[in-house]
Parts: sequence; C-alpha cells; structure tokens
Amino acid sequence: MSVHKTNIKRVTTHILQDMKERGEKIAMLTAYDYSMAKILDAAGIDILLVGDSASNVMAGHETTLPITLDQMIYHATSVIRAVKRAFVVVDIPFGSYQGNSSEALRSGIRIMKESGAHAVKIEGGSEIKESVLRILSAGVPVMGHLGLTPQSIYKFGTYTVRAKEEAEANKLIEDALLLEECGCFAIVLEKIPAKLAKQVAEKVNIPIIGIGAGPDTDGQVLVLHDMLGITQDFNPRFLRRYADLYAVMTGAVQSYISDVKEKSFPNNEESY
Ligand code: KIV
Repeated sequence: MSVHKTNIKRVTTHILQDMKERGEKIAMLTAYDYSMAKILDAAGIDILLVGDSASNVMAGHETTLPITLDQMIYHATSVIRAVKRAFVVVDIPFGSYQGNSSEALRSGIRIMKESGAHAVKIEGGSEIKESVLRILSAGVPVMGHLGLTPQSIYKFGTYTVRAKEEAEANKLIEDALLLEECGCFAIVLEKIPAKLAKQVAEKVNIPIIGIGAGPDTDGQVLVLHDMLGITQDFNPRFLRRYADLYAVMTGAVQSYISDVKEKSFPNNEESY
C-alpha cells in the first residue's frame, strides 16, 4: 500500500459543517481539467465542483443535458489528479439517475470509484429522495441542488429566477429540509430571491451554497470560465467577473501570431 504524506489539511464534509457553524463563508468554483484545478487548489479554494456546466463551457453545448457519465468521469479524474486540499464534488449528469435509485447508485459509485472524487451532486428535491438515500447508504456524500436546476431547463422554459411565487418557494424550503433530513452534507441554491435563500440558510443546519442567491448563504459558487471572463456572452446580474481573460488571451495569441509572421520568434536565445 502506498501512503502519500502531506502537511496540507484536506477539506472534508466535517470542516465544511464547522465553517457554517463558525460563520466562515465557503468558496466554491467549478473546475474541469488538471491545469486549472491545480491553480484553484493552490489558491486555497474550499470546494471544486466538476459541474455538468462542462457541457457548456468545455464542449460548447447549449445546455447541460448532452454530457455523459463517462465524460463527467474523465473531467473528474483530471481534476482529482491536481488537488491536494480542496473537497471535490462531481455532478451526476442528466440521464444517469432519473430512471430509478439503482441507476443513481450505480452512477454515484462509478464516479467515486473511477475518478477518486469526494462527493456527488444531484439536482432535485422530493422526486429524487429514493436516489439520494440509496447513494448516501453506500457511504457517498451527496450535495443537493435546488432552485434553477439546469437539467430541467426544457420544463422551466427559461433561465429566469425561480421560486418567486409562494407555492414554489414553500416547495423549495420543504425540499431543502428533506435533503438535510436524508443526510445531504450541503445544498446548492441557484438563482432564487436573496430573501428566500437567507430563510433556507437559517432553517437548514447544513451548508447552503448560493449562485445568484444573494449574500446570506453559507458560501458562493461560480462557473470558473464566467468569473475569469473567458466566456463573453453570458452576463447574468449575479455574475462578478474577476478578470478579463478573453482579452488577455486574445492579446497573447495575437502577439504570438505577429511574432511568427514577422520572424521575430524564435530568436537566437530561444533556439538550440
Ligand atoms: O454545473 C455547474 O456548474 C453547477 C453550478 C452552476 C452550481 O451546477
């Protein structure tokens, strides 16, 4: 048996729970590949989500629906190889858990076994209770996802804010309490009113991570390519861009092209 010794203290579900209890906010970002995950992990991110948003930002699909379980496992495996500290959560993609709870369990186990991930995320509330319980019973930590659940985009019809009406808000609160009761270690709330997200974070004892859910959740998550300004055509109100990598990368590539064309690259020092 090989034992890798390191002084870095890994983030665990217990540490995340403790952060909620102490009021320390949890920082989560998506990652889909080794190089990016290495940077985010070294920078000190708490949770890396191998999101099915890989379907959009890595593969160029319009929705998250086309990405397969095999493709998610490929992305997760690349991320896991880079990580020394962060807690790595992987989305169970559309079509690999809705059939029944055995299918959900099989998908969860494949993700954990083949990628080495630390937990899975699954979209939905009461309608997926059996699947959540079955995965948890195998000892796999589960993160819930409520509010705007992108795998249901064709049911919703639009990407607008969810749970503005009382009935949907009440169902969301009930679902959050149910996911906590089932044993989920955390829940993502996507694109819901800030007031409702605050209410959920106060009612539920497990960490609530928001995206477009205001400032009062226990943590925040953003899609990496959006917050770094690599994507350009996605501009929701909740998105803060921390860099304009589109411009930086375009400039770098244009400089390279002109250096090659002008024969100034490579120079003598760059040659053998
Ligand atoms: O797939 C994803 O990136 C997500 C986040 C938006 C939470 O589920």
